[in-house]
Amino acid sequence: MDNRAIGVFDSGLGGLTCVRAITKLLPGENIIYFGDTGRVPYGTRSKETIINYTRSDIRFLKSFDIKVAVIACGTASSIALDTVKNEYDFPIMGVVVPTAKAAVSATKNGRIGVIGTPLTIKSGKYKEEIEKINKDAFVVSNACSLFVPFVESGYADHEATRLIAKEYLKPIKEAGIDTLILGCTHYPLLTGIISEIMGEGVTLVDSGMETAKSLKKYLENNNLLSQNAEEGTCNYYVSDSVQGFEELGGMFLNKAITGKVEKIDIEKY
Ligand code: DGL
Repeated sequence: MDNRAIGVFDSGLGGLTCVRAITKLLPGENIIYFGDTGRVPYGTRSKETIINYTRSDIRFLKSFDIKVAVIACGTASSIALDTVKNEYDFPIMGVVVPTAKAAVSATKNGRIGVIGTPLTIKSGKYKEEIEKINKDAFVVSNACSLFVPFVESGYADHEATRLIAKEYLKPIKEAGIDTLILGCTHYPLLTGIISEIMGEGVTLVDSGMETAKSLKKYLENNNLLSQNAEEGTCNYYVSDSVQGFEELGGMFLNKAITGKVEKIDIEKY
């Protein structure tokens, strides 16, 4: 049993979809969330920049007594996890491995689609992890660069988003997949539009939810679950405006942000 907090970070607000899944599956856990809102987006930057950002984000989480760190960001998980995972004295989980495993279990025809930010797709990390489990799996992917700004502009259920989604999903649909990985923090908010376009026969795999399931198993297997009988706390830290985070955060968390939100200087870490 271990009552220390779980550290979670993302490039900004989107990682709150992962926090939402963690609090659903592990309601007694305390969470420290860092959203790098001052340096977002990560999905269009260089590999070197994302590795540097990831290191400082984890160093910030390390300033708390955490038992595990979760990289909720699809881009940072794809690009930086392998490089940084042994640099700290606590375990670090990303979203790619648990999500790839879930997709391989879900597919019946062995054809899997992946959507994410340009950098996530360029990294080929999902394909690599899927092929480690099933070398014969067929993987088709597409970067959906406009999904993040559309969601953050409140267009999650808008005709403009539907139009662009049809365009992005066309090659994936034509490839005859039966399982689609939502490889970015923001995409669970587009589930309605994406499932409407892909049709009933396609299973959507939410990376935040799969990561929360895998985290739960990890804590159980290593006797690290908290003993909290009450609901755990969630403290939020951001590198830009607190107000902006509070205003938009509820959309990702699916409820108003009630915990403390504080602005920090990430350049110090
Ligand atoms: N959180 C990022 C991800 O999941 C999306 C936003 C960004 O580009 O920073 O890849």
